[in-house]
Amino acid sequence: MPTKQKKILVMDGPNLRLLGRRPKKVYGKTGLSDIHKKLKAQAKKLGVSLDFYQSDHEGALVEAIGAARGKFQGILLNPAAYTHTSVAIHDAIEATGVPVVEVHLTNIYARESFRQNSLVSPVAVGQVSGFGVHSYELGLQALVGVLGRPRRRRR
Ligand code: DQA
Repeated sequence: MPTKQKKILVMDGPNLRLLGRRPKKVYGKTGLSDIHKKLKAQAKKLGVSLDFYQSDHEGALVEAIGAARGKFQGILLNPAAYTHTSVAIHDAIEATGVPVVEVHLTNIYARESFRQNSLVSPVAVGQVSGFGVHSYELGLQALVGVLGRPRRRRR
């Protein structure tokens, strides 16, 4: 019997729709739609389907994470600035039980001290940080690998 294609939600937090206009030395010049284009091509090769969601609002992200259960098998998440502040996103990930891979364009541990802590990492399967657009591609590859594993070994 053919296996059903896995669905992954790619979720981006505040200000990431401004990529390309944010400081290029820090974030590079690739826009969010170009990142998504690359991911779509990669997803085709990996045999998974992707949906995309970006919001600048913490509550909207929390709701989308909560609503992902039953619809998506995994979430590729760049929580952006909420990485460092959002107990609500932490709790939503924990409650929904959908495996999350956290990604960052920049190496958050090599930046300002207020960026060096992630509230998301403790409830994520793993984190990819510091490889620019590649962080998303590596994160997607890792997430697809995780979804192929038995449920109890995912976190
Ligand atoms: C970011 C890092 C965060 O500290 C920052 O607030 C962002 C982007 C990254 O992808 O490197 O908006 O998540």
